[in-house]
Amino acid sequence: MEIVRRVHSMREIAQRARSRGLKLGLVPTMGCLHEGHLSLIRRLDELADVIVVSVFVNPTQFGPGEDYERYPRDLTRDADLCIAEGVDYLFAPEAMEIYPPGPRTHVEVEQLSDWLEGASRPGHFRGVATVVLKLFNIVQPTVAAFGQKDLQQAVILRRMVRDLMLDVELLVLPIVRDDDGVALSSRNKHLGEDERAAARAIPRGLEAAERLVAKGETDAAAILHTARETIESVEGLSIDYLELVAPETLAPISSLEGEGYLAVAVHCGTVRLLDNIALKPPV
Ligand code: PAJ
Repeated sequence: MEIVRRVHSMREIAQRARSRGLKLGLVPTMGCLHEGHLSLIRRLDELADVIVVSVFVNPTQFGPGEDYERYPRDLTRDADLCIAEGVDYLFAPEAMEIYPPGPRTHVEVEQLSDWLEGASRPGHFRGVATVVLKLFNIVQPTVAAFGQKDLQQAVILRRMVRDLMLDVELLVLPIVRDDDGVALSSRNKHLGEDERAAARAIPRGLEAAERLVAKGETDAAAILHTARETIESVEGLSIDYLELVAPETLAPISSLEGEGYLAVAVHCGTVRLLDNIALKPPV
């Protein structure tokens, strides 16, 4: 596996592969890789000839006072994991490579970025969409993989691909969880033992809602109440938002007619955790 640091080198490598008729697969990440990231790599491995994993802690998607500085970084370990997965190129540029001074162009996916994560983290999705478009332009992958864990991110990026007519297939793959149900996240590293134990109530809350829906409940208020009660019954967790939303638009829904997503963000100590679950009334 080759570690690539420079944009022009990555571009050349990708161009060479494409000119040989090879299919490129890209997994954009911010590093500190875990089984969630690896599941994306494994899936792409079945679909593409050359796998590029990018590791770039993207400064523009962190707001002032957020955790850009303390976001976990461990490129040596990331590289070892990528080698073990048979990744071909690890693209790990410096911030100056991706953001030369004085940019005037950004990608804003309107409306979809305004609520849920967007309401709590203004500018976050502009940073995400901008960096992902840059990565797409550098690598020009045939296919790129993202996780359902970041539901809103996936919906926004799909919309960007559609609106800007990008020639890339997006795959959105299921959430990988620890044995106790907690969604894997690079930020889990910052959880203390008690906080990690408290975090279990998040998937428990989502599952409680799922059971209620399986019994025939469709009223959003009732579904939300059950999830909220389970999560808030545990000390140390504070809900930032909990919403039942429509799959394509992420607009809040008052009753579950078709499929919906229950999406949650929870403060657990100094860490903010995201999770979601797809809900569908029984047929
Ligand atoms: P990061 O948080 O490192 O996540 C990289 C990819 O892994 C994302 O598509 C995310 O949804 C997916 N992922 C994270 N945890 C997962 C889990 N438990 N199960 C399945 N997939 C999981 O998301 C980002 O980085 C950044 O915003 C990025 C897209 C790289 C742009 O900077």
